[in-house]
Amino acid sequence: MKNEKIIDGKKLAAEIRSKVRTLSDVFKSKTNITPGLAVVLVGENPASKVYVKNKIKQTEEVGFNSFEHKLPIETPEQDLLNIVDSLNKNKDVNGILVQLPLPDHINSDKVLDKILPEKDVDGFHAMNVGKLWSGLDALVPCTPLGCSIMIKKIFDDLSGKKAVIVGRSNIVGKPMAALLLKMNATVTIVHSRTKNIEDICKDADILVAAVGVPEMVKGSWIKEDCIVIDVGINRIEVNNKTKLVGDVDFNQALDKASLITPVPGGVGPMTIACLLLNTLNATHSQNGMKQPELGSLLE
Ligand code: GUN
Repeated sequence: MKNEKIIDGKKLAAEIRSKVRTLSDVFKSKTNITPGLAVVLVGENPASKVYVKNKIKQTEEVGFNSFEHKLPIETPEQDLLNIVDSLNKNKDVNGILVQLPLPDHINSDKVLDKILPEKDVDGFHAMNVGKLWSGLDALVPCTPLGCSIMIKKIFDDLSGKKAVIVGRSNIVGKPMAALLLKMNATVTIVHSRTKNIEDICKDADILVAAVGVPEMVKGSWIKEDCIVIDVGINRIEVNNKTKLVGDVDFNQALDKASLITPVPGGVGPMTIACLLLNTLNATHSQNGMKQPELGSLLE
């Protein structure tokens, strides 16, 4: 049955949010502290505005405090650094997220590295990146974390399995590679300068597509029974209507894959759920408490 092959990210994300809410209530009753997440948006990028709106809505729904900073596109870099500094010092703020991309006149690396590593719920600070690659406890970027939770529900250990990631971004491709390595997979990253991408993909037991090219990965690139995780969210025009598609040609891939994430309703909803999870974990660590277990969510 084709339906049984589809990994329901919407449902899993709702389970994570419900677990976060329960664990946050337990934390609040023990400490009298409400986790707080600050989101900073510079400019009017339409996609960023939608993401930020959803992040704020879901932050409030799980009972966290939400702090919003919406800044004009011409905001000087130093003003943004000053805001990050004040959020670093604010005890009510446990997590800080600066929405990317930032305008061209702002150095993103400088801003991201200004965020205190323990409040860096995006996992983009060099300290968290280094810890992740060293196999140490770190705050992990939300989208690859969501993908790894989906994969862990299928296989806890990927010994002997070949994982191929299409795309080498700092937000998804590279951290995804570190997470798959941690699960013992043999990992290959392919990118725009790779030769024979199709042949490398054909060898994958697990294929993660994160390139931002609509329906680039074809059914013929996918090995029978491969697990396909599609991170792409691309808007295309079909018969004068806008349609959301992934980086994988879903209908073609569905015939070959053993399991596949749809777009929408696959990886997308997992990203914000994992942001809330990271904020909850950061709040625990900042108060000297052990991070709560996800328990049955990973069974
Ligand atoms: N822009 C696209 N994805 C992300 C993300 O995961 N975090 C931030 N901060 N910006 C993004």
